[in-house]
Amino acid sequence: MAGVYDTIRLFFQAKLPRYLQNLPFPKSPEGFTSLSREEWIQLAPFIMLVCLFLWIMIKPILSGLFPQKQKRPKHIVNKKVKKEEPKVVDTVQIEDIGDKKAFCRCWKSKNFPYCDGSHNKHNEEQGDNVGPLKIVK
Ligand code: FES
Repeated sequence: MAGVYDTIRLFFQAKLPRYLQNLPFPKSPEGFTSLSREEWIQLAPFIMLVCLFLWIMIKPILSGLFPQKQKRPKHIVNKKVKKEEPKVVDTVQIEDIGDKKAFCRCWKSKNFPYCDGSHNKHNEEQGDNVGPLKIVK
């Protein structure tokens, strides 16, 4: 553990200051325009680190100033049935079904939860293959 600590201490007390002192910073901001290619290459890691640090520091502030709009889900199955309810739940008594009943699974029926054949139009337009759930005795 002491070896790791000594390495870190040596880096911050000796190597980092020497590295920073040797960076070819110009005396004025205009001096950046006259830096040679080698000087830019020497400065590049330091500039990238500073930019990364600034981005990490600024990003939360920018997120607070410009919050992203909440994205609406793209693929809503139910587009019109009982939209005022948090969840569409239908209960059908077995005695009311009779000999057979077709229940809508495409969410397009005007007589939901029963199928009214609207799935046929949907299938033609969308190339889909949805159909009802048929309950028979
Ligand atoms: S109308 Fe929806 S499955 Fe028939």
